[in-house]
Amino acid sequence: MTHRRVAILPGDGIGPEVMESVLAVLEAVGFEAEYIEGDVGWRCWCTEGEALPKRTIELLERCDACLFGAITSKAMDDAQADLNPNLQGKGLCYTSPIVRLRQHFDLYAAVRPCRSFPGNPRNVSDDVDIIVFRENTEGLYGGIEWNPLPPALAAQMADMDTGHPERMRRWLAIDPEDAALSTRLLSRQGCERIIRAAFVYAMSNERRRVTLLEKPNVLRETGALMTRVFRAVSSEYPRIEAREMNIDAACMLMVMDPAHFDVIVAENMFGDIVSDLASGLVGGLGFAPSANLGDGFAVFEPTHGSAPDIAGEGLANPVAMILSGAMMLDWLGHSSQSEQIYVSVMSLIAEGMIDTPDVSGDGAQGTTSVITNRIIQRLNQ
Ligand code: NAI
Ligand code: MG
Repeated sequence: MTHRRVAILPGDGIGPEVMESVLAVLEAVGFEAEYIEGDVGWRCWCTEGEALPKRTIELLERCDACLFGAITSKAMDDAQADLNPNLQGKGLCYTSPIVRLRQHFDLYAAVRPCRSFPGNPRNVSDDVDIIVFRENTEGLYGGIEWNPLPPALAAQMADMDTGHPERMRRWLAIDPEDAALSTRLLSRQGCERIIRAAFVYAMSNERRRVTLLEKPNVLRETGALMTRVFRAVSSEYPRIEAREMNIDAACMLMVMDPAHFDVIVAENMFGDIVSDLASGLVGGLGFAPSANLGDGFAVFEPTHGSAPDIAGEGLANPVAMILSGAMMLDWLGHSSQSEQIYVSVMSLIAEGMIDTPDVSGDGAQGTTSVITNRIIQRLNQ
């Protein structure tokens, strides 16, 4: 088997804790790779003024894949306040390194499976098997934002003919200095490749339905574009049922009848929100792995963040990170080792042996390292 080179970016909070777990599990399953650790996250921002140093991007460029733990991100004003005083006033601006990684490597598909594993006491429903395809590079998280509003843009808005002059009058009365604007830029190509990825997945994994979650009744331009592309692409896959739903109604239905959903495709922010919602049906973020896939490179990370409320206590559920590692093995072509990890994790869940506090509540016995060792022992049986 080819020798693999894998970048590991543990990051902040529980990131390093769950990274240790996945590396131990990958070793136990016999996956041989050269691991190269890189810097990313909040400490880098505070000390260097750069949460994603250039050396880290160069490291990833030399690797076959990347395992990412989690990072801490803060809103702009809080980020400025935490920056090293020597670096303040230099115009440095915090942006989330994981969002930038997705854009830099064009990792356009965030793939987020949410399955209710039998026996998980935190399952809201026992028949959830949802996989979210979240567009990862455009949309509301695309980073095209202003505060204050640039005068040229304000002037352009004044010239817009929206057919609703009363609405425009209200916007134009706002002082540009008091306005902030985040845009939702979608492109036909961007919509097409994520929608196609969802249908290709559905075809090759015998899934029955792909549902687009959008809001075209309100987001009249971007929602319409996404819907138009969805209809065009879905017509090429007649064996897969194509459905369209408004994102808000879908959130309600997902709680009340999650079995309705199979493969989901959504724009960046809608996909982000709905993937956390779906994880809540199957035990929470501790059980939600994810892959950020491009055409030639991929970053695997749990859906969760750095969980500062439990960081440093050894109480994080490592399953999301470990299954992200299993997704990486699958993507690298080591599917039987990936399957072994899934089987071990599932059998332990069925026996009630995944019992960190997020699963078992206060007084739980399981710690990150205890759970990791159980998974390793099961692999070795
Ligand atoms: P979060 O995902 O870190 O935590 C949400 C809740 O889930 C917390 O109560 C946490 O304790 C719990 N939780 C998360 N992972 C867990 C695990 N493995 N085991 C047990 N419980 C777990 O989201 P939150 O609180 O919104 O953000 C915290 C920080 O993480 C913020 O700075 C945020 O910007 C960052 N973040 C980073 C992400 C990334 O690295 N890709 C994604 C989401 C948030
Ligand atoms: Mg999220």
